[in-house]
Amino acid sequence: MQELIVAPSILAADFSRLAEEVHAIEEAGADWIHCDVMDGHFVDNISFGPMIVDLVRKQTKLPLDVHLMIQHADHYLPRFVKAGANSINVHVEPEAKHDVAKTLGAIRDAGCRAGLAFNPATPFEKVEPFLDKIDILLVMTVHPGFGGQSFRPEMMAKVKRAREWQKSHEAPLEITVDGGINPETARLSIQNGANVLVAGTSIFHATDYTDAIRELRGSE
Ligand code: DX5
Ligand code: ZN
Repeated sequence: MQELIVAPSILAADFSRLAEEVHAIEEAGADWIHCDVMDGHFVDNISFGPMIVDLVRKQTKLPLDVHLMIQHADHYLPRFVKAGANSINVHVEPEAKHDVAKTLGAIRDAGCRAGLAFNPATPFEKVEPFLDKIDILLVMTVHPGFGGQSFRPEMMAKVKRAREWQKSHEAPLEITVDGGINPETARLSIQNGANVLVAGTSIFHATDYTDAIRELRGSE
């Protein structure tokens, strides 16, 4: 069984004291730090860019898992690599306006792990041709653009298929769930085969980050 990874999403952090927040979740037991980059075009929200990823990089040695909810990810890729990303997730939907296979190759060529993300409305068949070209498959369990949304349990069918593919190909594929993850939905996600849990609200809005992360793990 693959290691269970807890990746707090800094989108829910208090940006007025971001450095402190990064130190706090590292001490609280986070495995990766998830950075949600939104451009106001691919999604109906604007978050932050390479400058914030660079800032987070300077505060921690934890792996930075960058989630690009932007158009033309191929154009901006070098800036996130330079900022210190360890894994970069790009979207498969045509609205992301890039050559998916080419971008995934460029991510790996830059020495980062390549992740492919797909929205709730996007069927599994759309990512299947790329499964042997990626390190991480990110299953959106909410429609992207905002934190604090409700988890969509019907996405578990995709997680299950991804885990079946990983096992039948004995591929080192990490399977991420992203959106509405809390102890209850974490348990369901793990039961269906996910091993990377991205969580924003359930960690950063908790009074004790260590307890919050332990509760997500406790779902193992
Ligand atoms: C949404 C982002 C998620 C989000 C998770 O588009 O990709 O990473 O920040 O936040 P919660 O855990 O609050 O749903
Ligand atoms: Zn995300």
